[in-house]
Amino acid sequence: MSARTTRVGLLGCGVVGSGFVELLMREQSRIAARHGVALELGRILVRDGEKVRRHVDPRAVTTNAIDVLDGDCDVVVELVGGVECAGAYVRRAIRNGRDVVTANKALLAAAGRELFDAADRSGVAIGFEASVCGGIPIVRALQRGLAGDSVESLRGIVNGTSNYILSRMEDGLELDEALRLAQERGFAEADPSMDLDGVDAAQKLRILASLAFEEPIVATTVRGIREITRADIDDARASGVVIRHVASVTRVAGGVALRVAPERLTASDPLARVRDENNAVVIHGRAVGELLFLGRGAGSMPTAAAVLSDVIEIARSRRTAA
Ligand code: HSE
Repeated sequence: MSARTTRVGLLGCGVVGSGFVELLMREQSRIAARHGVALELGRILVRDGEKVRRHVDPRAVTTNAIDVLDGDCDVVVELVGGVECAGAYVRRAIRNGRDVVTANKALLAAAGRELFDAADRSGVAIGFEASVCGGIPIVRALQRGLAGDSVESLRGIVNGTSNYILSRMEDGLELDEALRLAQERGFAEADPSMDLDGVDAAQKLRILASLAFEEPIVATTVRGIREITRADIDDARASGVVIRHVASVTRVAGGVALRVAPERLTASDPLARVRDENNAVVIHGRAVGELLFLGRGAGSMPTAAAVLSDVIEIARSRRTAA
């Protein structure tokens, strides 16, 4: 199979971006042989142009996003995060006829519909597998694997930082110490209140709900883990339960209701056994019954793998369309 080259422009070379570069270098020849697409890294937007980065050719680096967006790439990978700048970059990429891959759940929650409409009008794709549950291919499972079934319910753990913190608190740490560890490992958002207050989980749940259900979202409840204390953890243990930050979608009159909040779970609940930065999603399909998706929900390489899977998918459809 001959490989056609797809040139990838990268916006952001932080925790996930640097993992993406490393993974692409490592898997490039296998991807070409297996999927028939040659991926080539183009310009890379960074904050600090002087910093030396492993696997990154310094000549590819720029501190000006226009060099990436108006350059010669076919796919723009947006990993800068946030809403304002990232949104402007994605809109420009779409206007320029580039396909886009993003891990940015905040942007999709704020402007997803507008961006998908703009992408449709421009005839380009937006890949967003990495925006929910890191390395778990849950977006593709809902879009493709479950395309023939009706989802009856969905619940899960979708914020790796909260789960990591609760796990460390079970080991005896205080919440702020556990948060520091999560930050050191690159799981937490730049503004960790997004994790602690449940906002990140709610953004991801909104994306999952829109993929899994036809009905409109008519209610949203959001509570994070900020108020959980060691005493709560000890009390849960004494009662034979564990505390987990659970995100769920329920059918209600007129649509679906979203809820993210700490819950006390018994050992028989599949979510009770999820520890560290892992995420899990339990889906009931009318035909398939119960499905459990489990894996790393945050971190450099798992999230990079999801980003790269979208890039490959786009490169394959470009090859088919050519
Ligand atoms: N802060 C997020 C989390 C990163 O902890 O899940 C991955 O989306």
